[in-house]
Amino acid sequence: MEYEVSDTPLLSVRDLKTYFFSDEGVIKAVDGASFEVHAGRTLGIVGESGCGKSVTARSILRIVEEPGRIVGGEIVLRQRASSELDLAKLNPNGRHIRSIRTGVIAYVFQEPMTSFSPVHTIGNQIVEALRTHRKLNNREAHERGIDLLQRVGIPRPRERMDEFPFQLSGGLRQRAMIAMALSCDPQLLIADEPTTALDVTTQAQILDLLWDLQEQNGMAIMLITHNLGVVAEMADDVVVMYLGRVVEQGPVEDIFYSPKHPYTRLLLQSIPSVHSVPRAKLPTISGSIPHPYNRPQGCPFHPRCPSFMRGVCEAHEPELLLVTDHQSVSCFLYQPPVEEAPVLQREVLPGD
Ligand SMILES: Nc1ncnc2c1ncn2[C@@H]1O[C@H](COP(=O)(O)OP(=O)(O)OP(=O)(O)O)[C@@H](O)[C@H]1O
Ligand code: SF4
Ligand SMILES: [Mg+2]
Repeated sequence: MEYEVSDTPLLSVRDLKTYFFSDEGVIKAVDGASFEVHAGRTLGIVGESGCGKSVTARSILRIVEEPGRIVGGEIVLRQRASSELDLAKLNPNGRHIRSIRTGVIAYVFQEPMTSFSPVHTIGNQIVEALRTHRKLNNREAHERGIDLLQRVGIPRPRERMDEFPFQLSGGLRQRAMIAMALSCDPQLLIADEPTTALDVTTQAQILDLLWDLQEQNGMAIMLITHNLGVVAEMADDVVVMYLGRVVEQGPVEDIFYSPKHPYTRLLLQSIPSVHSVPRAKLPTISGSIPHPYNRPQGCPFHPRCPSFMRGVCEAHEPELLLVTDHQSVSCFLYQPPVEEAPVLQREVLPGD
């Protein structure tokens, strides 16, 4: 696809910091993440487990659980050209963010069982959502609910309306969850590992469904996944996260064909290729992710980095900078001489 994006993103996350505070210390789950989401495009968010993908999504929706909170940054939503709203400044329990959650940004979780109430039928739950979001009466909401189930490819939708979540297979439940998310006609759909619990065929069907829905209504999709194959197929743009930071971002072709950050390169090398010897040991990224209480100083990836430069990488923090027309990287291999970088000072935080 030609890289052509409207100048004004639907959502701009800037220097977002979301920390969890406990007696043992502070977990900087998201620590200065910046990226943009554009209408009609899919942004893939990738990175190893624990790098802050879900906390980023939950921060956008303002559903970060205690003892976590947003301690810095902006989450700017532009519903119309002239309107800007910083979601990070809203009261997480207030009316305003609730109306965003029910009318603008929808969230599809990995396991839809936790999102549906087990004691109400699928139909009742969708009707309730439609009555609240769309101000429809019972009859209209019921018909619209059937429509939605049909749109997401659920067979016999009229009968399914009367079934309980446990009566549906994993794949159908995930479709029903997507129908529920669509009930608010979202401008942005955040899908957090939406297919991980499903078999390969169902995974492909759900991803096709998301793709079709995007074609139909032009919504933006933020697709969080471990699966780089899914990203290669679905995403227009990619954000690579490591320890709560964005280390590289850009159009999917650039990230896959010309990865710059050593972490992105290693992540890509760890995908089995069609040419790999069957059952050969997959390359993995050496070293383990540091414990969240012990973030390395300097570049967070330095203890595992094959290109580590002593005296530079552990002493200074690289910024996320544009290195080509569209690709940004946070690494000293692509930055001006480090003498110009600020020397690190330890921050003092509440709970430290
Ligand atoms: N409720 C919580 N309390 C304390 N720490 C938390 C909480 N939720 C997340 N964290 C921490 O925040 C960091 C980021 O977690 P997050 O769930 O965003 O990772 P992730 O990238 O989504 O991982 P995965 O790929 O496994 O889903 C982790 O270190 C995690 O332990
Ligand atoms: S800044 Fe240094 S340690 Fe970090 S990724 Fe680049 S080369 Fe590796
Ligand atoms: Mg997650």
